[in-house]
Amino acid sequence: MDFEMNSHSEDKMKDSIGDKETVYRFLVENSLAAYYIIQDGLFRFVNKRFCQIAGYNYEEIIDRMGPADLVHPVERNSVLETLGNCLNGDEDNSEHTHKIIRKDGQISTLQIIGNGFVYNGKPAVSGTIIDISKESDLESQLLQAQKMEAIGNLAGGIAHDFNNIITVLTGYGNLLQMKISQDDSLRLYVDQILSASQKAASLTQKLMAFSRQQPITLKTININSVIHETKKLLERLITEDIRLVTELYSKDVIVMADATQIDQILFNLVTNAKDAMPSGGILKISTRIAELDREFVLAHGFGKTGRYAILEVQDTGTGINRNTMEKIFNPFFTTKEVGKGTGLGLSTVYGIVKQHNGYITVSSKLNQGTTFHIYFPVVKNMTHEMLESNLKPVKHGKETILVAEDDDSVRYFIIDILNRFGYKTIGAVDGEDAILKFKENKDISLVVMDTIMPKKNGKEVCDCIRKIKPDMKILFMSGYSAEIVANKGFLGYEADYINKPIYYEDFILKVRNVLDK
Ligand SMILES: Nc1ncnc2c1ncn2[C@@H]1O[C@H](COP(=O)(O)OP(=O)(O)OP(=O)(O)O)[C@@H](O)[C@H]1O
Ligand SMILES: [Mg+2]
Repeated sequence: MDFEMNSHSEDKMKDSIGDKETVYRFLVENSLAAYYIIQDGLFRFVNKRFCQIAGYNYEEIIDRMGPADLVHPVERNSVLETLGNCLNGDEDNSEHTHKIIRKDGQISTLQIIGNGFVYNGKPAVSGTIIDISKESDLESQLLQAQKMEAIGNLAGGIAHDFNNIITVLTGYGNLLQMKISQDDSLRLYVDQILSASQKAASLTQKLMAFSRQQPITLKTININSVIHETKKLLERLITEDIRLVTELYSKDVIVMADATQIDQILFNLVTNAKDAMPSGGILKISTRIAELDREFVLAHGFGKTGRYAILEVQDTGTGINRNTMEKIFNPFFTTKEVGKGTGLGLSTVYGIVKQHNGYITVSSKLNQGTTFHIYFPVVKNMTHEMLESNLKPVKHGKETILVAEDDDSVRYFIIDILNRFGYKTIGAVDGEDAILKFKENKDISLVVMDTIMPKKNGKEVCDCIRKIKPDMKILFMSGYSAEIVANKGFLGYEADYINKPIYYEDFILKVRNVLDK
C-alpha cells in the first residue's frame, strides 16, 4: 500500500512507536507470565516475573546463566534437547513441564512454551513460563492418596489372610506349650515357634493398621494426658544427647481416639526422629487447637473444615529429601540398613490417622529437621467427668460366670483371673457338663466357653442354653479368627468372642463389656 508521509504525520508516527514500546515494556514487565530469550546457551533477555520465579536478580541471570543452571539435574538433558529442537525449528509452541531449582534451593514446577526465531542475526529461542508448582503439588497429593488407597487394600488383604494363619499357629502353639512340661526338651522348640509367630503377628498387626483393618476402640481421650503418661517411655526410646521437650496446649485437647493407637503414633514418630538425629538434637512434641478453614483446605488439597487438635512432632535431624519424601508412607519403604528398619512405622501411623478421620502432613528441610503434623477432629462439649469415666474402664464385678473349657490349665487360668476381679465362678469340663451346671445354677449372668469341647461343642451348648434362657450372655473363646465365630459361619448368628491366646487384661475388659451390654 502506498501512502504519503508529511512531516506532521511522521512526527505522529514516532510518537505512536514510542507509545507502543512503552506499552509493550509495561505489558512484559508486569505480566504474570515470565518471558525469556536464550541465545548461545545463555539468557539474553528476561522479564521481572522470570527473576521472581528463578529467585535470582536480573544482573545475575543476563549473559551469565543458561537453562542448564536452573533446571533440575534430572531434567537437564530433556530441556537441552527441546531447546535444540526449537533452534532448528523442529519444535515450536509445544508445551513442556519442567522442574527448576530456585536460588533458595526450593523446587518449582514450570510450564514452558518456546519458539525458535532469529535475534540479532543469530538463531535464538524465546518463550513464556508459568509457575504451576501449586497445581502440581495438589495433583501429586491426590495421586499419592489414590496410591496409598491401592497399596492399603493390597496390604490389608495379605495381612488378613496371614492373621488367620498366625492365629491358628499361636493358638495351638500355646496349647502345646501348656501341655508340654517345663523340663521337656521339646519345650524349647515350641517356645521358638511361638516367639516367631509373635513377631509375624506384630508385622501383620502393623499392616492391618496401615490398611485400617485393625479394630480400634474410639473413646473420648485427652491427647495431652496420653502424651504426659507416655513421655517417660518415649524418653527411654531416645538417646541421651536428644532433649525431649513437650509444649502442650493449656486446656484439655479432647478427641475421639484409641489411646494405644496414639501411643503407637508417638512411638513410631519418636523412633524415626531419634534415628534422624544420630548426633543428638531437640525433639519437640506439641499440641494445639486449630480451625481448618476453606483457605486451608484449598491450599492443602485435603480436609474437611472444622476444629482440629494438632499433634506436632518436630526434630532437628537430617531432614528428608524430595525423592524419599514421596515414598515415606509406603509400607516397607525404608532408607535404613537391613535389619534396622522394616519400613512399616510411617505406614502404620498413616493408617491409624486415617482410621481416626484425621490427616497427616510432613515438612522437612535438609540438615535442619522434619516436622510431622497430625490433625484429629476435636470433640465438642465434653465435660471432664465424662472423660475420666472413659479413661478408667471398670474391670471388677460380682456376677456369677460359668466357665466351660475342657483344657484344665486354661480353665483354671480363666477361673483364677475372674476370681481375682471379684467374680464368682462355676467350672464345667465339657459341653454336657456345661449344660448341667447351667440348669443347676439360676444366678449365672455370663457363660464363657470354648468353641470346641468334647461331648457337645460350643454351638450345641449355646443352642441348648438359649432355649432355656434366650437372652443369656455368652462369650466364646476361640483359637480361630473372628469370622469363623463372630460372623455367622460357625453359630448361624453373631456372637461375642475373644481370641486365643488369651491375655488377661483384654479378657477381663471383654467380660465386663459383654456383661454391661
Ligand atoms: N523424622 C525423620 N527424619 C528423617 N527421615 C525420616 C523421618 N521419619 C521417617 N523418615 C524416613 O522415612 C523412612 C520410612 O520411615 P518408617 O518409619 O516408615 O520406616 P523405618 O523407620 O525405616 O522402619 P521401621 O519404622 O519399620 O522400623 C525412613 O527409613 C526414613 O528414611
Ligand atoms: Mg520408623
